[in-house]
Amino acid sequence: MSSITDEVNTKRILVLHGPNLNLLGTREPEIYGTLTLNEINETLKTRAKELGADEINFLQSNFEGELVEAIQKARGRYDFILLNAAALTHYSVALRDAIAAIPVPVIEIHLSNIHKREEFRHNSVIAPVVMGQICGFGLDSYIAALEIAIRKLVRS
Ligand code: DQA
Repeated sequence: MSSITDEVNTKRILVLHGPNLNLLGTREPEIYGTLTLNEINETLKTRAKELGADEINFLQSNFEGELVEAIQKARGRYDFILLNAAALTHYSVALRDAIAAIPVPVIEIHLSNIHKREEFRHNSVIAPVVMGQICGFGLDSYIAALEIAIRKLVRS
């Protein structure tokens, strides 16, 4: 039975991982932890189900253009993007422009606290065009972003 309070918004999430995140598990574990990318994705999949997401899909790419295309194609296809742009965060104007070009909200994620690290990591060129940034909490950065995205979609 349907009622006026039924949720009508779709909750389709796209998770994008940038360069070198395919190496998680063995890559600088003292900074990024020991979880593999697959383990992170599986945890997000489980949490997304618990939160009632309609869909969650994942893409990791070492190529800027592939991520730009994924962002462009997200228009009308996804309701939220969770993006760990990795090193591209710090210099990719192309990624920033792609985010600014679409109406899909983006949450910027980092496993490590980029503000506590080398100076070149302190600046995010995508920060001014995303909804917000979560960094420094490892896997929990991703989980928090997912929870916020679902909450926003349910409320909107
Ligand atoms: C990162 C931080 C970036 O500075 C770095 O280039 C990465 C990972 C993070 O998740 O902490 O590759 O985005």
